Amino acid sequence: MSRLVVVGSQWGDEGKGKVTDFLAQNADVVVRTQGGNNAGHTIKIGNEKFALQTIPSGIFNPNIKNVLANGMVINPKAMLNELKGLEEKGIINYKLYISNRAHVIMPYHIDIDGANEQFKGEHKIGTTKKGIGPCYADKANRIGIRMGDLVNLTTFRKVLEETLLIKNKELKMLGLKEYDVDEIYDEYKEYALQLKDFVCDTSLILDEEIKQNKNILFEGAQGTMLCLDHGTYPYVTSSSPTAASVPLNAGIAPKYIDHCVGICKAYTTRVGEGPFPTELKDSLGDHIREVGHEYGTVTKRPRRVGYLDLVVVNYAKRISGIDSLALMLFDVLTGIKELKICVSYTLDGNIINTIPSTLDEYERCIPNYITLPTWQEDITNIKDFSKLPLEAKNYVKVIEKYTGISVDMISVGAERNQTIIRKQIFNK
Ligand code: GDP
Ligand code: IMO
Ligand code: MG
Repeated sequence: MSRLVVVGSQWGDEGKGKVTDFLAQNADVVVRTQGGNNAGHTIKIGNEKFALQTIPSGIFNPNIKNVLANGMVINPKAMLNELKGLEEKGIINYKLYISNRAHVIMPYHIDIDGANEQFKGEHKIGTTKKGIGPCYADKANRIGIRMGDLVNLTTFRKVLEETLLIKNKELKMLGLKEYDVDEIYDEYKEYALQLKDFVCDTSLILDEEIKQNKNILFEGAQGTMLCLDHGTYPYVTSSSPTAASVPLNAGIAPKYIDHCVGICKAYTTRVGEGPFPTELKDSLGDHIREVGHEYGTVTKRPRRVGYLDLVVVNYAKRISGIDSLALMLFDVLTGIKELKICVSYTLDGNIINTIPSTLDEYERCIPNYITLPTWQEDITNIKDFSKLPLEAKNYVKVIEKYTGISVDMISVGAERNQTIIRKQIFNK
């Protein structure tokens, strides 16, 4: 199995960073294909905690090629700060490749993101305010600036002049600050000089790696339910965090994807607004939030918490073709008095097993639960599935039964070694 996609099967923050870092031990290349610094992937290595936003989770291994592919949106300033933070922690030997086709997040994208949220008032999306949506909107509107433009300073100045002619009109209409070409150019020129050597045609690099049958890990950001096409629109992000989006966003052919691992939290969380049928607004929700440290990596917002929802996971399975599951933060469920898993919804008196397309219908969905026995024993040091308490094994088996996907990895703590491997899914 050479080319593996890591996909979030819920609303993001499932533990993709930990899984990618773990699997990267057998990878030659790690690729981020979509999103930008709206992502927050936490990785714990020994006593150090790293929160990666733009940079792929293979960065800690000097032999791994880390690729930021064409489907990403990149804030150069934020990215350079991230690199600086890593270097300060001793991560100085790394291989990094940034697609010349990836789009650049400009300061006005961030301003527009904030303003849109304000204009929406109580209907706000709850974005990370990193300018993600406005940057992707400009890409689709063909007025975006790409990394290849940025690092060629003559091109950059020309493209910036043309773009600001349009964007300043929009900014004025929105009542926002207009930008001066020199103001942005002088600042971004510095970023361009620092990033120039990393920028290249990453599709060509990946093609070469594929020809050499190298192990490539595609690290998803966000999660299926935040997909622009298949998520809870409009309460979604502005890219597609599905396996289907990977070939397009990386510039490789779909036939080269071998396997998709769905990352699934043992419960459910969501940051930002939008429907969430299994949400717990009680003391159990608060308990899980505290034990699981469920506060946003990027925005520090408390994450909304709920029971595991297998309608959601099955939906992700259908959209992305999930072959195996990595069950994350399993230890957080230890000691809970009553555990439930949602296995279907009731919508207007009918049992359904999918996600309705309209918010109106989704908000009317009532979860149907099964109740499971719980366990009290500490599981954070268990390395072998057979050693888990019977009730914990049962929880895993219920997931397998209702999804038809094998749970090949179980994570029982944030550290790399707190991982139970039931089946190797990525071999060197
Ligand atoms: P991502 O965005 O999908 O990479 O996930 P985040 O990093 O935003 O959130 C997952 C959080 O859970 C991080 O703080 C991880 O360090 C932590 N984590 C990952 N796996 C486990 C686990 O099995 N148990 C516990 N307790 N924490 C975990
Ligand atoms: P990772 O990769 C969780 C959410 C935001 C908001 C919506 C739109 O760490 O799993 P955006 O700024 O993208 O326009 O916000 O999407 N969101 C995430 N939620 N994890 C993420 O990334 C997210 N990235 C965006 O909270 O609801
Ligand atoms: Mg996250």
